[in-house]
Amino acid sequence: MAVISLRGWHPAIARAEAEAMFDQALITRGDSRRLLIAEGDCDWEKAEIMSGTECVLTDGGICDWTSLDDLLSQIKVEKTENMAVVCWRHEGKLPIGTKEIERAVGGKFHRENSTFNLQNPSKRFGVVLDASAGMVAWGWMVGQGPGKHGWSSMRANNRPFFRPVSLEPRLARAAVNIAAGTNEGLVVDPMCGTGGILIESGWAKRKTLGVDFDPEMVIGTKANLEWAGVEAVVERGDSTRYEFPADICAVVVDPPYGRNSQPSESKLLVKTLENLRVRCGDFKLVLIIPCSPELANLDEEIKPELELFGFEIIAAFGIPVHKSLARKMIIATTLPLD
Ligand SMILES: C[S@@+](CC[C@H](N)C(=O)[O-])C[C@H]1O[C@@H](n2cnc3c(N)ncnc32)[C@H](O)[C@@H]1O
Repeated sequence: MAVISLRGWHPAIARAEAEAMFDQALITRGDSRRLLIAEGDCDWEKAEIMSGTECVLTDGGICDWTSLDDLLSQIKVEKTENMAVVCWRHEGKLPIGTKEIERAVGGKFHRENSTFNLQNPSKRFGVVLDASAGMVAWGWMVGQGPGKHGWSSMRANNRPFFRPVSLEPRLARAAVNIAAGTNEGLVVDPMCGTGGILIESGWAKRKTLGVDFDPEMVIGTKANLEWAGVEAVVERGDSTRYEFPADICAVVVDPPYGRNSQPSESKLLVKTLENLRVRCGDFKLVLIIPCSPELANLDEEIKPELELFGFEIIAAFGIPVHKSLARKMIIATTLPLD
């Protein structure tokens, strides 16, 4: 058993990302907003490239918070070299300090003759205090852990080529991971704009192709990719006619925000999806479209309220952007062609 500890930005999308990236595990959700239980063996190192997972806690446990003594009695320790204990909170406070836990848990490892390196540990033992459900989880950390870890320095407006349409990196990364999961095939963004989706996909070393109709976007995206030091193919083309390769595994698309309130009525999107559907085999689609702010929901799926010909919609999420705008993330799989 492992515990997947989620970031607070959008727990519902983080759950979908965890299910796609840890597809060999049975993932269940308890009362906590941000702790998932995973049964089965997976490549937990994938947490390193995930947007919504702060870390996976392995060889540990999870229970209701009662007392420090109770927690210490449940944590199994053995001598470990060059380690650190890290404790952090989710969602408010339980009646204990994080430093007090770090000292007490560190003391238990110390009594087994473990050695510590707080600056550059080779193993980190994590303890999460989750006030949303009054729970505590612990285990060896795989993944970056809590904190921003460069998300702010990775803001889209730090890139050499920025436009207000540029997607937030954490949303783009989650979208790519949900669409491609553990599949190593080609990821396509048929309307790549400033390359937000391509950067996240290429950064995770996925094979990546972007297309845009606007030559300025193509030049700008190439500059962004070079700046980010990641590889992806970018071509100028019309997504409704471009000759996409047959073997793609994932399509992530954030189409232009037209006046049509219903994207299924947008000819550009319908024709692009039709083109992809006819030329390519089966793939997973993640579509990001604007929606009304009332649909934003950080914890639960929302109704897709959309039909896409040739696709089965499997989930939808509402993402707050600002007072008057939200985005809807639609996840779909291809239906067999007649
Ligand atoms: C909302 S923007 C994409 C933004 C992008 N996700 C980013 O992070 O920068 C939509 C893009 O679709 C492109 N586009 C519009 N019509 C197109 C077409 N027929 N084929 C390809 N790209 C098209 C526009 O030039 C624009 O760059």
